[in-house]
Amino acid sequence: MSNNHALFTRDTQAIFWNNNKKAIQRMLDYDYIIKREKPSIAAIVAPTSSAKFEKFFFGTEEVMIPIYRSTKEAVKNHPNADVLLNFASFRTAYDVTMDALNLDQFRVIMITAEGIPERHARLMNKKAREKGVLIIGPATVGAITPGAFKVANIGGTIENIVNSKLHRPGSCGLVTRSGGLFNELANIIARNADGIAEGVAIGGDRFVGSTFIDHMLRMEKNPQVKYMVLLGEVGGREEYKIIEAVKSGKITKPIIAWCIGTIAKYFSSGVQFGHAGASANADEETADAKNEAMRKAGIHVPKNFNELPHVIKGVYESLRGEGVIEPIQEPEVPPMPEDFAKAVAQGKVRRPRHFVCTISDDRGEEAVYAGVPISAVATPDTGYSIGDVITLLWFKKRYPRWATDFIETVIKTVADHGPAVSGAHNAKVTARAGKSVVESLVTGLLTIGPRFGGAIDGAAYYFKYAYDNKMSPKEFVNYMKKKGIPIPGIGHRIKSVRNPDKRVEGLKNYASKHFPATPLLAYALEVEKETTAKKENLILNVDGTIGILMVDMWRALGYSEKEIDEFIASGTLNAFFILGRSIGFIGHILDEKRLGMPMYRHPWDDILYKVDKAEEL
Ligand code: ACO
Ligand code: LMR
Repeated sequence: MSNNHALFTRDTQAIFWNNNKKAIQRMLDYDYIIKREKPSIAAIVAPTSSAKFEKFFFGTEEVMIPIYRSTKEAVKNHPNADVLLNFASFRTAYDVTMDALNLDQFRVIMITAEGIPERHARLMNKKAREKGVLIIGPATVGAITPGAFKVANIGGTIENIVNSKLHRPGSCGLVTRSGGLFNELANIIARNADGIAEGVAIGGDRFVGSTFIDHMLRMEKNPQVKYMVLLGEVGGREEYKIIEAVKSGKITKPIIAWCIGTIAKYFSSGVQFGHAGASANADEETADAKNEAMRKAGIHVPKNFNELPHVIKGVYESLRGEGVIEPIQEPEVPPMPEDFAKAVAQGKVRRPRHFVCTISDDRGEEAVYAGVPISAVATPDTGYSIGDVITLLWFKKRYPRWATDFIETVIKTVADHGPAVSGAHNAKVTARAGKSVVESLVTGLLTIGPRFGGAIDGAAYYFKYAYDNKMSPKEFVNYMKKKGIPIPGIGHRIKSVRNPDKRVEGLKNYASKHFPATPLLAYALEVEKETTAKKENLILNVDGTIGILMVDMWRALGYSEKEIDEFIASGTLNAFFILGRSIGFIGHILDEKRLGMPMYRHPWDDILYKVDKAEEL
């Protein structure tokens, strides 16, 4: 049944000004339990957001609510949204309201901010009245039409809403100033009667956009409302307007009313209660005077607040007796899905994790590398070096100094080998094609492989295998020859017995001075004697030296053979080259950029063209 006098219907949609995620989620949770078809929020306005939408739960599913940077844009895209929930701060709320009033789309504007200057409040209210727009607030939690639409946080949590029967229409029209007491009253009405048909907290400021009389005159016409409850406050004269309306017959439905603040008389000076408007400026503005005047006008006024529930019960029961109020068929309420994070925190659910991380943890106050906070390793005074950081993150151990110094020696040794090597060349060509640092870097890194820089794991694997299987160096060379595999770690394009690789010399010297023992290196040097006897460039190269010395290092550190084999199999040793050589590649890339080098094209005369005409098949 359509009801033109209801504040909101099940089709009402609002534009929410400010991406107040919690409040919006509460509205959508409400929509879900009352089984609304469309979410009550059509769009969000968030002027500084670059996001196009925000996701919210609608029951167990998720919905996307569009975000716009201006109310104008939101209105253009959602012409049916006739309610604006203005959640701007007190500094911005006035401008947002005035702007919205000029757009001529909103029927209701609710303003939540407290502390809007009274001059601004009056200007807003005047303009709204001229335009026939209903303003609720400022300084309010809003309004609710149970079973149809609920503004933001009014009514509290979903449990509270269901307990207070705010999820389906009852027959009371409730008006209050305060939001907190609104919830209290809704609860009292649910317990002593059948709940509310519509409720508005008009807000606690002195100049609110709509007052009790505006809402109660509408409720008088709303057939769903059978009686009204008014919770007034000390201060202001709004209750007298209700008295007038009752006297003149504009309001005929029963009213139960109470003005809080009767205690004010026990204080010698004027008392300002919590709300800006809650202070009596004349005798008629005291709670006692207003209660008495309402009582005289035939409004049901209890003796005190404690008696209010009994009065409500009495009026409700007599309306039931007269057949004005029909019994309500309680709707079934779908269970509200619990938030996952909350359920986890309460230990109610468990879920297998998709990823495991055993090296670092960023959840605490400070991220840790293998349990050590970054601040405890970052600066030189901590005594931690880059080598320590590598061993913490790669091996979850802190190595002795001789080992971390070796790792650093490796990194420094392989950092670069000039522009002509495969990877640096590729990185340079890529940078000259206009690609970024990261693109050029990965191009260089992708060149690292079994022939260039990536022979370290292979060297460790085969030399260890030969040594462990007690192959003589000759047997090993023959074994590899039979397999048809060049021995990883042997051979170099430009280095040879006569032009030794100083890097290899440096690593060997370091190891002989600092390693407890280097048995695999000793074996590799015997193999080298065999290969260089065949060809003088078949030296133990830098990759081979690193791979073999890493195995000697891990054995000296007490790693098991199984652990070392796992390091080799997972590509750990090549990673040292990848890490070190990244330094050089980046240098070459920055060099290209600094020099502003043009795109590279390889010269024709450096390519042997031998292109025969394709054979026809
Ligand atoms: N083991 C056994 N024999 C070898 C090896 C090797 N590692 N490398 C070359 N040979 C032999 C070849 O079989 C060939 O023999 P042949 O003349 O009897 O046919 C001869 O030496 C020349 O071979 P080329 O491939 O022409 O050697 P080149 O000097 O061009 O190769 C390279 C250099 C690519 C490094 C090669 O030695 C190789 O593949 N080595 C193994 C991979 C490796 O360790 N790469 C890392 C190099 S260091 C770095 O990149 C940081
Ligand atoms: C390197 O370190 O890149 C090399 O040893 C390879 C090369 O060709 O110099």
